[in-house]
Amino acid sequence: MTLVLGIETSCDETAAAVVDEHFHVLSSVVESSIDEHRAFGGVVPELAGRAHVATIGPVVRRALEEAGLDVAAPRLDGVAVTSGPGLIGSLLVGLSTAKALSLAWGVPFVGINHLEGHLFAPLLESSDLAWPLMTLLVSGGHSLIVLQRGPGEHEVLGETIDDAAGEAYDKVARWLGLGYPGGPEIDELAKEGDATALKLPVSMIGDDFDLSFSGLKTAVVRATEKHREIGLADVAASFQFALSEQLLRKLRQALERYEVKGVALAGGVAANSALRAGITQLAKEFGLVAHLPTMAMCTDNAAMIGAAGIYRLRESGPSDLDLSARPNWQLADVQ
Ligand code: KG4
Ligand code: ZN
Repeated sequence: MTLVLGIETSCDETAAAVVDEHFHVLSSVVESSIDEHRAFGGVVPELAGRAHVATIGPVVRRALEEAGLDVAAPRLDGVAVTSGPGLIGSLLVGLSTAKALSLAWGVPFVGINHLEGHLFAPLLESSDLAWPLMTLLVSGGHSLIVLQRGPGEHEVLGETIDDAAGEAYDKVARWLGLGYPGGPEIDELAKEGDATALKLPVSMIGDDFDLSFSGLKTAVVRATEKHREIGLADVAASFQFALSEQLLRKLRQALERYEVKGVALAGGVAANSALRAGITQLAKEFGLVAHLPTMAMCTDNAAMIGAAGIYRLRESGPSDLDLSARPNWQLADVQ
């Protein structure tokens, strides 16, 4: 049995997990420093880095214990760690920890691209995965449409040219005076609102698969300044409709162009109710299986990093011990 310890510290989640070669999750521990960042309306890199230093040890210990492993000498076959993209100070904590553990235990370690990690999440939850898969990866930092021909074989068809989808949620929420992170609050409010209350543009820049959200954010600001009579729930519903509509239309175009067996959703914004309903509907229309992650698998976790680690150790081999963090590592550059 091949067992890999996954470690994730790219943003505000400190996470460790043990995964086996069949992509079974033996343990998955996630701690978040989000409460420390709320007052600032976004993640404060310095605070996130310090929180990782305090939390990473106990989190790794718990992940080993919950997997039934001997904490002093766990019988592992490797350590996989997110080495980019992400906040540099946060990445360095996970990377240094992974290198130290791999040296101490005498096992290989491998640096994993965080976005590739998200792409492995469906493998942990669906035993009936059929390839190719069309995946919409939407988080606070990234928004991509990816054609996955198999595990680790991904082609980026399009990505945002400005803000990420989650970032747009967070910025609009801030404008509306809601808390951080804004996605869950807007999603909740939108359920009570009228999506036709505000006419907002569905930006469809070109006929490629690129995405854009900053125009929508500006449109919300302008429209709410002009129509102060429109209630918060109606604004939330109108914004949510315009944003998910763009994602769904682009995804539809991608499904018309490429023949796939399933469609998957990944990243923090995968928790969004409008997007989940829209993708379920789209999959039905195209006769495809929809892979919607559980809430725990939407947000950052180390199980997905461990899963990518199993694959990368086997296919590409271990990383060198002098591996650096890559804060801007693009998914398209992963090989
Ligand atoms: O993947 P994630 O946990 O962290 C990043 O790697 O960015 O994503 C966090 C993002 C935040 O922008 C948050 O507002 C958004 O996901 N989010 C949502 C929902 N839940 C979280 N956006 C829309 N609807 C939701 N229900
Ligand atoms: Zn993420």
